[in-house]
Amino acid sequence: MKTLTESNIFIEKEEKFGAHNYHPLPVVFDRGEGVYVWDVDGKKYYDFLSAYSAVNQGHCHPRIVNALIAQAQKLTLSSRAFYNSQLGDYEEFMTSLFGYDKILPMNTGAEAVETAIKICRKWAYEKKGIASNSAEIVVCKGNFHGRTTTITSFSNDNNARNNFGPYTPGFTSIPYNDLDALELTLSSNPKVAGFLVEPIQGEAGVFVPSEGYLSNAKKICEKYNVLFIADEIQTGIARTGKMLAIDHENVTADILILGKAISGGVYPVSAVLANDSIMEVIKPGQHGSTFGGNPLACAVAKEALQVVVDENLSQNASLLGELFRDKMQEIVENEDILTGVRGKGLLNAIIINSDENSSLAWDICLKLKENGLLAKPTHGNKIRFAPTFSNN
Ligand SMILES: Cc1ncc(COP(=O)(O)O)c(C=O)c1O
Repeated sequence: MKTLTESNIFIEKEEKFGAHNYHPLPVVFDRGEGVYVWDVDGKKYYDFLSAYSAVNQGHCHPRIVNALIAQAQKLTLSSRAFYNSQLGDYEEFMTSLFGYDKILPMNTGAEAVETAIKICRKWAYEKKGIASNSAEIVVCKGNFHGRTTTITSFSNDNNARNNFGPYTPGFTSIPYNDLDALELTLSSNPKVAGFLVEPIQGEAGVFVPSEGYLSNAKKICEKYNVLFIADEIQTGIARTGKMLAIDHENVTADILILGKAISGGVYPVSAVLANDSIMEVIKPGQHGSTFGGNPLACAVAKEALQVVVDENLSQNASLLGELFRDKMQEIVENEDILTGVRGKGLLNAIIINSDENSSLAWDICLKLKENGLLAKPTHGNKIRFAPTFSNN
């Protein structure tokens, strides 16, 4: 007979009253501090998912929480109908940290991807001279860029996509990590305006492309006057051992998409950065959001990113990642259950010796949970390990 713990009560409520759009591991978070979380029954765990890499700075980082409290007591929302005393400072901070002329602030990752798509299309018509309503954006097979109608239109994950049509046109899908496919597509189709890419495919199972893929993809984009659009929502903010994953190959994106950890998981904040020649295509009334650029978000994100710089979190992720992969590699070599470990910095996955449809990865995650470590399978037989990595 099932014992009715505190956890069961919360789980049953979510099952009964919430839409079943997720399949969570049966653990109910109640409190978090640094890399640790505690469930409602008081059990302590290592969090090795970090809310899908949103909590890089550790749960409830005191500096970020204090910034939230201080700003919440002063002003939370102005809307963009008026100026506010946080946004300009935040924009100056962000553009100087990431090296762009302009930022367009939004809230969630998917919104930022949508924003980048809109900017790219408008640039195509007004700057590149592509005929109206015919621009194409090249994306990669296995991508994950969010859950909106347009974004799921160019997903090739049947579960994410089926029965949500009619689908938004204007996207061409090529294999990931395939420079020949990119060159062929761009050279044969003058209507291509942008190439949207994850520097590491996170949801696909932490698929790290070959060295040189990103820098050469950028060169191909330059050759055909196509915007290189980097979705760093999961890979960014020190996660892979550099502030951005494209920094490993010294690539500058034409459009940079950020989300998740730019607020340390404290508040939904996302952003799109570009230089004036691109961003100037957006005029008043053409894009925005009631909450985008709100003073609370600005104060939180500024502090969250300052923490990343002050605590040298890129170096932490790099060193800890090497340690993780070395130790995991020993298990891969000595045990039959794992066939590999891969990743960069602290964005890693282990590959379980089973087929994609087996429940083994899920069962291993349940065992890990019993032993006090939280991680989740991604795409069947892979388990992602992406712990927080702050000093707090
Ligand atoms: C690469 C990437 N892009 C976009 C998103 C969507 O972000 P959000 O869930 O905040 O909409 C995610 C979320 O996991 C992601 O990993």
